[in-house]
Amino acid sequence: MERRKFLSLLSLVLITFIVFIFIFDNLPSSTNFHSVNKAAVELELAQPPPRKLTRHVHVSDMASHPLDPLTVQEVNRVRSIVTTHALFKTAKKYALHSVVLEEPQKPSVLRWKEGDPLLPRKASVIARVDGGTHVMSVDLGSGRVEMVDVGEVSGYPTMTIEDMNTATFTPLESKEFNRTVVDRGVDLEDLACLPISTGWYGKKEEKRRLIKVQCYSMEDTTNFYMRPIEGLTVIVDMDTNQVVEISDNGKDIPIPKAANTEYRFAAQKNNIHHKIKPINPISIEQPKGPSFTVENGHMIKWANWEFHLKPDPRAGVIISRAMFRDPDTEELRNVMYKGMASELFVPYMDPSDAWYFKTYMDAGEYGFGLTAMPLDPLNDCPRNAYYMDGVFAAGDGRPYVRSNMVCVFESYTGDIGWRHSESPITGMEIREARPKVTLVVRMAASVANYDYIVDWEFQTDGVVKIKVGLSGILMVKATPYTNTNQVPNHDDLYGTLLSENVIGVIHDHFITFYLDMDVDGSDNSFVKVNLKRQQTSPGESPRTSYLKATRSTAKTEKDAQIKLKLYDPSEFHVINPNKKTRVGNPVGYKVVPAGTAASLLDLEDPPQKRGAFTNNQIWVTPYNRSEEWAGGLFVYQSHGEDTLATWSERDREIENKDIVLWYTLGFHHIPCQEDFPIMPTVSSSFSLKPVNFFERNPILGMPPNFEKDLPVCQAASSAS
Ligand SMILES: *[C@@H]1O[C@H](CO)[C@@H](O)[C@H](O)[C@H]1NC(C)=O
Ligand SMILES: *[C@@H]1O[C@H](CO)[C@@H](O)[C@H](O)[C@H]1NC(C)=O
Repeated sequence: MERRKFLSLLSLVLITFIVFIFIFDNLPSSTNFHSVNKAAVELELAQPPPRKLTRHVHVSDMASHPLDPLTVQEVNRVRSIVTTHALFKTAKKYALHSVVLEEPQKPSVLRWKEGDPLLPRKASVIARVDGGTHVMSVDLGSGRVEMVDVGEVSGYPTMTIEDMNTATFTPLESKEFNRTVVDRGVDLEDLACLPISTGWYGKKEEKRRLIKVQCYSMEDTTNFYMRPIEGLTVIVDMDTNQVVEISDNGKDIPIPKAANTEYRFAAQKNNIHHKIKPINPISIEQPKGPSFTVENGHMIKWANWEFHLKPDPRAGVIISRAMFRDPDTEELRNVMYKGMASELFVPYMDPSDAWYFKTYMDAGEYGFGLTAMPLDPLNDCPRNAYYMDGVFAAGDGRPYVRSNMVCVFESYTGDIGWRHSESPITGMEIREARPKVTLVVRMAASVANYDYIVDWEFQTDGVVKIKVGLSGILMVKATPYTNTNQVPNHDDLYGTLLSENVIGVIHDHFITFYLDMDVDGSDNSFVKVNLKRQQTSPGESPRTSYLKATRSTAKTEKDAQIKLKLYDPSEFHVINPNKKTRVGNPVGYKVVPAGTAASLLDLEDPPQKRGAFTNNQIWVTPYNRSEEWAGGLFVYQSHGEDTLATWSERDREIENKDIVLWYTLGFHHIPCQEDFPIMPTVSSSFSLKPVNFFERNPILGMPPNFEKDLPVCQAASSAS
């Protein structure tokens, strides 16, 4: 590998990427996937050419749906409006930390129909101007700028990519820092630094936008994360770009070796003896093309589902207006107005100087969408995937395109949709089974070392499964130990010895989802269906106990603060009390948890105060446009006074009202050697499942597969 001044890999990659995108965006136009005509599809059938990604040109994009994200032209317009505003004209320094569509009021969006004129377009802008934070509502038509009062709250907006980049270079302005690095035996040319959000731990850190920078050696490896310069932390002021403090507590801790840390395919060939028995190529082929369409860039229609999909710099992806066409009535029925990852909370479990503050909020601090890199076709998503780009704004307000940020594809994993067969005793030969095909919307964020894969999987039976996969590289701690036999007390390691001199520190991941359910309309109720053991009365039955379901409707927010319990189980339904099925059940959807974890930190621990939205797994709040981000609008260094937990304490009424369901998916992670040098994906999920929403099984009429309908790939014989 060529040696060059490569001080911050992360930032350089990001910047290079932006430059790339500008180049791509100027390429001549190419066809889009949904404009491919029938003849072309037939041709492809006869002689399938290698499928190339179409490079969509965004300069001339026009919004066509009220929820469409800002286009390149619109971001440019925002920039020219805002930068000529009085506030900016006299400013010494400013940066735009967020430029996104200000979604029109919900009732206007609900009334809007395809073909109606587009609703007035507005942008919501969060800017830092000479050390102050401002929220602006920008009318793209009139050019009017309205300052939005967000009250007195602690915290700062999401960092810009420029903030992160500058922070990683700032330590080099200190002689002391340079000397320390060299003393540790690291060539300054081999330094890679990471910007680590500071959290909030009291007075000392207030009134300054701070970041902690820690560095690694990338000598002989691209996986520099495995070579920490332990105990060296530089506090940088992000507004003045100055080094505030250097703490250096790891002088005697060796930097772990580079051996066996590489994970790139090309780099492994020579040093890892691969004895993995290869599997033959496998792929989904759709000779007749996909069964979904993407209309006007953002409306996805597949099977009975319709929804609006857009990339978002903070949430990653936003699903809106999810509707299902009832197979019995053919009516298009509302399910969810808006769904997204609202916040992530990732506390590490090591209270020592160089570690205690590592309690990330990846959406509000780093931007879950900003850190989503282009997906790798064929490997991140299957060959039949469609790709969607994100259009975001840089710190100076200029638009840039994050290409292939989201993929959409039909998935068939060999699972069964429903089945039944009869045994010979009935005299009937019945074998009925239906294959399960789903539609997946996927994005993957790489928040520095860690990778999060978020899937929204739509099923034909009305279920929406939300799955989060964790992969990427652990944040590790260097140690003098090379074997566990040198460790006096294992439990004091704060983690697991993964390799010589490398500890994988225990940590949690919580992903809190915002789910504005609108089940057959906006006014819904939250119903807990609790299962309890019922004792039979003496003589009533040979049985002494059975389970009984008791329904209770939450009246106010506190009734809907739910902690999951295995020995006191409940179902959690969002129902429409105003609409009943033929036999009288209220129509509904339930949230179905799967494997998950709860935060066990002290409620008064500063990170848990900021992450108080994880104090319960489920919350329900009345719909409020200003309550979308579970950790608050300004999460960076916030004190935790504007979280979902504080909103919910207001105990507002939620019965038969427009309500929002919040669900937190959690993981405890005790690292193990298999996580070194890169982690195999670990996933968990939860589902939104219809419960008395349909009159009967909605996929009853689905046909089975027949041999004649399936593509025949003749490259090889089947397994035997
Ligand atoms: C620290 O080292 C870097 C890289 O060699 C150099 O560019 C910078 O000027 C040095 N800083 C100081 C204060 O000498
Ligand atoms: C809506 O949310 C904001 C921010 O939390 C709050 O100030 C306001 O009181 C809320 N409105 C209602 C009606 O609850």
